[in-house]
Amino acid sequence: MALAGKNIVIAVCGSIAAYKIANLIRLLIKADARVKVIMSEEATAFITPLTLSTLSKNPVLIDYYQPNTGEWNNHVQIALEADYILVAPATANTIAKMANGLCDNLLMAVYLSAKCPVFFAPAMDLDMWKHPSTQSNIAKLGTYGNIIIPPEKGELASGLIGEGRLAEPEEILRFLADFANEKRPLSGLKALVSAGPTHEAIDPVRFIGNHSSGKMGFAIAQQLKELGADVTLVSGPTALPHPQQMAVVPVTSAAEMLGACEKYFDDASIIVMSAAVADYTPIEVASQKIKKKENEFSIALKKTTDILATLGAKKKKNQLLIGFALETNNELENAKDKLVRKNLDFIVLNSMQDQGAGFATDTNKVTIINRLGENKTFALKSKKDVAKDICSIIVQHIPLEN
Ligand code: CTP
Repeated sequence: MALAGKNIVIAVCGSIAAYKIANLIRLLIKADARVKVIMSEEATAFITPLTLSTLSKNPVLIDYYQPNTGEWNNHVQIALEADYILVAPATANTIAKMANGLCDNLLMAVYLSAKCPVFFAPAMDLDMWKHPSTQSNIAKLGTYGNIIIPPEKGELASGLIGEGRLAEPEEILRFLADFANEKRPLSGLKALVSAGPTHEAIDPVRFIGNHSSGKMGFAIAQQLKELGADVTLVSGPTALPHPQQMAVVPVTSAAEMLGACEKYFDDASIIVMSAAVADYTPIEVASQKIKKKENEFSIALKKTTDILATLGAKKKKNQLLIGFALETNNELENAKDKLVRKNLDFIVLNSMQDQGAGFATDTNKVTIINRLGENKTFALKSKKDVAKDICSIIVQHIPLEN
């Protein structure tokens, strides 16, 4: 029942396991899903488009246009109409293309146009599966929000025995149905997250910035998304790939970040400001590159607007506002003071005293403090797990008015 009426696009790649897709389509049709199949050219060597079009009751699309009529297969439309896109079997080659944004066939164009959850079910030989480049591509897909349906262990087409077998059609069906069934606690709520540093221009080639990587904020945005929220991520300059299925608003300066956060604030129920916003910005930005002259040189700075405090001042009862505090001394006291001053519901304290915490690391160690001044210190963990801790507190405190 969970999949009834869902539009599922199956993207079939060139693997011997493609034969299993025929059975998967039958199961999906039985579950009353609507199935559309896209195949790579290579996949057609393993199973015929006729088989899959007959079972899916829809024409199978392979190329950008229909060979007979010349009609264009609009990849954006196909992606927009899909409730789920499932890449199965996902070969090492297609996984690498997905991780790196290559677009050399219709299947990849549809993937890159996706706005819905994307699942991929890998199938490949044991050593290809284990190869560090495959594993790093798979990890990269995770950061885009793509969901892996893990391969199974067993006998492979090569005769080797190990991990790499495409999950069985029944297992893929169960995976999709569980996903559709799962009640997500933040469904229907809008969330706003700020992340990364800001860059304050000095002249056309220089700026004042900081070492924030954006990893913590991106992990929070991803976790809120997974819990069902409709997320807008306002991001300062970072090297991180933009996650899929959320609106990413890139900004550069503190002033731009303020503008973007104010724009999305009113509609948001959950607001997490994790950006490392510059506290000061040059009073004047030189229009030409500043030349080297004197031995000493100073730049006059003015305070930026405190975004968090601005939002805190207009926070409504049905909004949950969470800020961060990065401290080197008197940590708890300073963080509690910020929580009160900026009218927050929670503040997440990062201490620079803690090894493995703070900027640019993959781990973090935080203490979360509430309005009553109660605090809980968590162990050092990956930023993804810290994001889970923060979001589980958010779930427990979703404003009741919503
Ligand atoms: N913050 C903000 N706008 C600013 C400065 C900070 O929104 N102009 C937010 C950050 O996103 C973070 C919180 O305020 O959630 C605390 O940032 P932090 O740098 O620890 O504190 P500051 O308020 O800047 O105070 P100080 O630098 O004096 O510790």
